[in-house]
Amino acid sequence: MENFVFYSPTYFLFGKNEEEKAGKYVRRFGGSKVMVHFGGGSVKRSGLLDRVEASLAAEGIAYVELGGVRPNPRSGLVYEGIELCRREGVDFILAVGGGSTIDSAKAIAAGVVYEGDFWDYYQDKPVEKALPVGTVLTIAAAGSEGSPDSVITKEDGMFKRGASGEALRPVFSILNPALTQTLPPYQTACGITDIMAHLLERYFTNTKDVEVTDRLLEGLLLTMVHEAPRVIADPDNYEARANIMWAGMMAHNNSCGVGREQDWASHAIEHELSAVYDCAHGAGLAVVFPAWMTYNMKHDINRFAQLAVRVWGCQMDFAHPEVTAKAGIDSFQRFLKSIGMPVDFAELGAKEDDIPAMAHNACYGDGGCGEIGGFVKLKEQDVVNIYKLMI
Ligand code: NZQ
Ligand code: ZN
Repeated sequence: MENFVFYSPTYFLFGKNEEEKAGKYVRRFGGSKVMVHFGGGSVKRSGLLDRVEASLAAEGIAYVELGGVRPNPRSGLVYEGIELCRREGVDFILAVGGGSTIDSAKAIAAGVVYEGDFWDYYQDKPVEKALPVGTVLTIAAAGSEGSPDSVITKEDGMFKRGASGEALRPVFSILNPALTQTLPPYQTACGITDIMAHLLERYFTNTKDVEVTDRLLEGLLLTMVHEAPRVIADPDNYEARANIMWAGMMAHNNSCGVGREQDWASHAIEHELSAVYDCAHGAGLAVVFPAWMTYNMKHDINRFAQLAVRVWGCQMDFAHPEVTAKAGIDSFQRFLKSIGMPVDFAELGAKEDDIPAMAHNACYGDGGCGEIGGFVKLKEQDVVNIYKLMI
């Protein structure tokens, strides 16, 4: 196991009606003037925004609103939010929504207290200072409610990039699984896929003897395999939603990724797809991940076979571990299809002609070093080959 530092100070409130405490926790974490940030309208339609704002009012906390965050959030609204917060003297940002809203809130929080362009943080400058962010989560997916990351698309060039830093971990996150019951099945499935991708990005490692995190990752993957069909069949299944929601947080606050090298090439390859075609991140990953696995299986066949046996219940073929490894990838792809995810470029609306530009951008775009991935280092031609497997 590699040396590591793990500091994850987010205060989690989990369960039914916990959003009613939002105001109380904003006060507890020092907020006196809040910007309430939200997306395209789901939180208005569900009445959640009213309830959260009522809880702020009950604590006598003033607030301004900024809605309109779109999936794959854009830099334009971030600049708008930074201006609004400065003008209004905002000292706390409350994100009510999904990963896109939370990521936009984090970008604004970092930008408000920084004199330069907030985009510097999306070009590898660590975020050391930001306004405090609290979240009321409405979809189990990105894990931004517990992560030190934010992903934003810069409209100039359509670069989708991530920023990181401990200052970006939310000070509190409210997770009420019942709030996710209004999700359309497709969005539920996209979230499930993203959660599994976060586990797999960590599972594929060159670090030896990391049994504790291997087993945590496998346990969470098995939980997703068990709960996904239950929630797709019955969207009101609170217990299944609860297990998925907590798995989503654990998959990405890095408690099961510490001390081990991680990969993340699939995310970089997917971010090009969601930047170019504006597809849902999880849907893009459903197409990317099996292709990435197929291309890289030979790098460590035993690790792929281990996953196939322990998570997908495949029989180990000791004489031909590549057969077992392949059977695991096939099971994963069948599972994704069964929950309604796309399997290829056509279903995503992606075009073969765009492959060279996307591969170039993934490796070199906006300051890239020409190589992506930790488990396997991929060059531009490898990324082209992986995209081609998706056709
Ligand atoms: O905008 P509204 O109207 O709220 O609708 C949203 C949106 O259309 C809808 N939705 C969310 N909760 C709902 C709901 N509809 C009905 N009922 C509810 N309860 O769902 C749609 C998707 O929302 P979004 O916030 O985009 O989803 P998600 O949480 O999957 O976030 C995706 C973004 O997170 C980034 C992705 O790249 C993508 O931009 N990621 C962020 C990470 C991080 N910060 O750590 C890590 C991830 O790997 C990921 O890259
Ligand atoms: Zn993701």
